Formats: sequence, structure tokens, C-alpha cells
Amino acid sequence: MIHVDRYEQAWIRITILILVVFVGAVTVAGIAHGIQVPGAYQRVNPQTLTEAGSPWAEPGLRELAPGKYEAYVLSQVWSFVPNEIRVPAGSEVTFYVTSRDVLHGFKILGTNVNMMVIPGQVGKLKATFDEPGTYDIICHEYCGTLHHTMYAQIFVEDPNAEATATE
Ligand code: CUA
Repeated sequence: MIHVDRYEQAWIRITILILVVFVGAVTVAGIAHGIQVPGAYQRVNPQTLTEAGSPWAEPGLRELAPGKYEAYVLSQVWSFVPNEIRVPAGSEVTFYVTSRDVLHGFKILGTNVNMMVIPGQVGKLKATFDEPGTYDIICHEYCGTLHHTMYAQIFVEDPNAEATATE
């Protein structure tokens, strides 16, 4: 047996305990907050994104079934297309996001959707919008002079509320 000093032993125990606590915290957070790890879902050619046959030629929201949607979002300097999405509360939306130029970010505040948008790759993440309200989508990867102006919004409408449009 190697002789380990009493204080050294104590510090080794504390270090192991801290690691166990961290692994536990990450595991609990991952399960409780439903952390989604964005992977490279698909590769695309950024040069031909807007050509016919590409789903980003006409980006936007498509209804797949009642309450289930998919949204194709194109990122470019310095906007998201579309920059407004409207869904009824309770909707589940799968986002397919790519960039036609440089690296961007795609983070929907108040949800766990948070990904890098890489030219040539498609990021795919899902969110369920139970609470009516406005959700901001921000670009959180520096992409040039007007990076800070790059955002979009999701309007989650309460299906039971009176229609507010009066015209
Ligand atoms: Cu796009 Cu920052």
C-alpha cells in the first residue's frame, strides 16, 4: 500500500464527492428540463437552398396534423425567414433551421430550443408551446455588424380567447 497522507485522503474524497454531485446535477437537469442536444440532422447545399424543390425555397410553417407543425426557417444576415410564426397554444413545432451564408444562432427564449445554425447543415429541434404569449427567437452567434438586430417571433395564440383582429 502506498502511504497517502490523511489530509490528502480527505481531499481525494471531497473531490470524488464533488464529481458525483456534478454528474447528478447534470443528469437531473437534463431529465427535468428535457435538454435536447442538437445534432447535424441533414446536410444541404447553401447555394441551392432557395431553388425549387428545397423546403427553404418557401420557408414557413406547415401543419402536419392538428396541433403538430413543422417550421422551415432560413437564417441569413441579418434576419430569419419567416420572422413571424403563429400557432395555437398547445402546438408542437419541429424546427428545421439552416443558414444560407454565415454561422448564426437560433434560440427560442422561454423554451429549451437553442442551437447553432451552420451553413450546409440542418438543425432540428422540437418545442411544445403550451402557454399563450410571444416567444422571441434570437440569433446568439455573432454574425456581423447587425447581429443584434437579428430576431424573429412566435405568437402562441389562446384558442379560447376572443379574436382581437376587428377589421
Ligand atoms: Cu445572425 Cu447573429
